[in-house]
Order: sequence, then C-alpha cells, then structure tokens
Amino acid sequence: MRIDGVEKYAALYDRFKAEIDSRLATTVAQEKPVSIFEPARYILTSGGKRIRPVLLLSSCLAAGGDVENAYDAATAVEILHNFTLVHDDIMDNAPARRGLKTVHEQWDANVAILLGDELMGLAYRQLLRTTSGDLSAILKCFTDGVIEVCEGQALDKEFESADAVSMEQYWEMIQKKTGRLMVMSADIGAMIAEACDEHRRSILEYATHIGLAFQILDDLLDAVADDTFGKVIGRDIQEGKKTFLLVDAMEHARGETLDWLRDVGLRRVAADDVVEKATVLFHELGSIDRAREQVSMRTEKSLAALQRLPEGEGKGMLEWFAKMLLHRST
Ligand code: IPE
Ligand code: IPE
Ligand code: MG
Ligand code: MG
Ligand code: MG
Repeated sequence: MRIDGVEKYAALYDRFKAEIDSRLATTVAQEKPVSIFEPARYILTSGGKRIRPVLLLSSCLAAGGDVENAYDAATAVEILHNFTLVHDDIMDNAPARRGLKTVHEQWDANVAILLGDELMGLAYRQLLRTTSGDLSAILKCFTDGVIEVCEGQALDKEFESADAVSMEQYWEMIQKKTGRLMVMSADIGAMIAEACDEHRRSILEYATHIGLAFQILDDLLDAVADDTFGKVIGRDIQEGKKTFLLVDAMEHARGETLDWLRDVGLRRVAADDVVEKATVLFHELGSIDRAREQVSMRTEKSLAALQRLPEGEGKGMLEWFAKMLLHRST
C-alpha cells in the first residue's frame, strides 16, 4: 500500500519523537542524588511535543544530512528547552504543565532551580557528543541561543510591570524567548548536515517564522484552548502577561475599556472573573482573529522560505511540520 505524504510525515515525526524520548530516558536513568534525578525523570518523561529536536532533525534531513549524526544535538536542544520550562514555571507561578503539576509545585522552588542548572549541564554534555559539522560553531550557536532565551525571559518579566508594551517590543521579546530556540535548533541541524549557505538561509528564514507563529499560538491557546491544553487556561491574563492578545487589545481599545485592560496588565483586577471578561474583550476587539491571522500569515511565509530547498523527504517534512504546528491544540 502506498503511504501518502501526510501519513508518511506523521510516521516520521513519531519515529523522531520515539528516538528522542528514549534518549531522554537514558539521560536521566541515574538514581542519585534522588532530589535531582526524580524531578529530572518527571519532567523529561512527561511528554511534550518535542518540537525543537524534530525541527533540528528535519532541518538536517532537508539540508542533505544524515539524521543519525544529529540525534545527540537534538536531545541536547530538548533538554535545554525543558530547563527553560522548569525555570519559566517558577517565574510565571504556573501550577500545571503537560497535564501534571509543575516541578516547583510537586517539589519546591529550590528543587526546580537546581534541576534547571543540572539540565543545562546535561544538555551541553549531550551536545558535545556531536561528531558531524564544525563543533565549535555548533557550540557557539547553542550558547548564543541560551543567552538570548534568558534575555527574552528577562523582557517578558520586565513587561509584567510595564503600563503598556508596543507590538514592536512584543515581537522582540518573543523572537528571543521562543523564536531563538527554534532558529538555533534549525541552524544546528543545517550545520550538522554541512548545508550550503543558500539552503541554510532558507531553513533559518523558515524557522524564524515558525518560532513567531508558535508563540502567538501559545498566547492564543492560553485564552481559547480546551481541556487537553495541559496548562491552566487564563494564567497569562491572571499574571498580567503582555501576550499578543493583551498588547493587540490595548492598541484597539479606547476609554474605560483601555483603562480596564491596563489594570489587567498590571494585575490590579480581582482574579475571579478577569479571565472570562478579558477573553470576551479579546474576541470583541478582534484580537483573537488577528492572532489567528498572524499565525496563518507566518506559516505561509515559513512555507515560502522553503522554495529554495531541493525537493525530497526533508523539505516535505518541514512543510508538513509547519502545517501540523498551525493546527495544534496543545
Ligand atoms: C512551551 O513550549 C513553551 C513555549 C515556547 C510556548 P512547547 O509548547 O513546545 O512545550 P512542550 O515541550 O510541547 O510541552
Ligand atoms: C515560553 O513562554 C518561553 C520559554 C519557556 C522560554 P511562556 O511562559 O508563554 O510558555 P508557557 O506558556 O508557560 O509554556
Ligand atoms: Mg510560562
Ligand atoms: Mg513565561
Ligand atoms: Mg504561554
């Protein structure tokens, strides 16, 4: 039986994910110290879409490389991502992730801080096993990624106490806190494949748009997701996060509505009905629609960027991947 494109790429995604899951489990098979390795297993085996390693592997494939050479780096970027999640959840006071209690809720903040540090080390150890491509260039890319994610997270926190944040400031923040890890993953995949400049540029442009679309959709899902989301719905609103929805709504609101939204952004509104009321406004002001339009438009741009790549399984996978992300609900 001929397997059509969609089934073939869905199967490839499953295969990549299964291999990453297995390598992550091996990374944290150690028993002691219990206070590090129990939470390490908890977070690394709690599911997750494995977007960044799959992007790294697919980029390697699209640039003509052998994915077998990219699994160590792919595992490294997923470990790094999990480090950012554990610390992000402390900073965001988040109670749940991937349908489970967050690490600092299940244990405490000290455990979560140390786990994050450990994961950073484990990520570098994994990355250093890479034997294809220029390792020093790969390490530089990874390190620059770590630094920029932290800077993006700093902006995210600074914006919590800002009266108003412009769309331009929002773009800069999400490009760093989320986009950078995506671009970094794609770039490392291309480097392992020793891609030519044209192919590498094409893959990076693709990943840039994917990264921005991904965070806008994450912001959108915070307000409109269903129970499968795995995180508590409306937490961004309660935390005064300057998400795409709040920034856009404040740009379009006037008078008392604008005053109320500003108070939401500064956490001056009682927590009870703030989520419901803010979500209604996000719909009424058109912010939900504009967020969806942005996600679609960015996905289109990401697909256009792939035109310069040679036809083949890698390019097909990147196309499928962009469309899959567009329709995700978690
Ligand atoms: C969550 O990332 C953090 C963001 C950048 C929005 P994911 O949505 O990729 O989280 P998991 O790994 O699949 O749980
Ligand atoms: C994600 O930001 C950025 C990083 C984790 C670096 P969010 O704070 O929106 O991510 P979620 O929604 O908690 O997964
Ligand atoms: Mg968060
Ligand atoms: Mg955050
Ligand atoms: Mg979020």
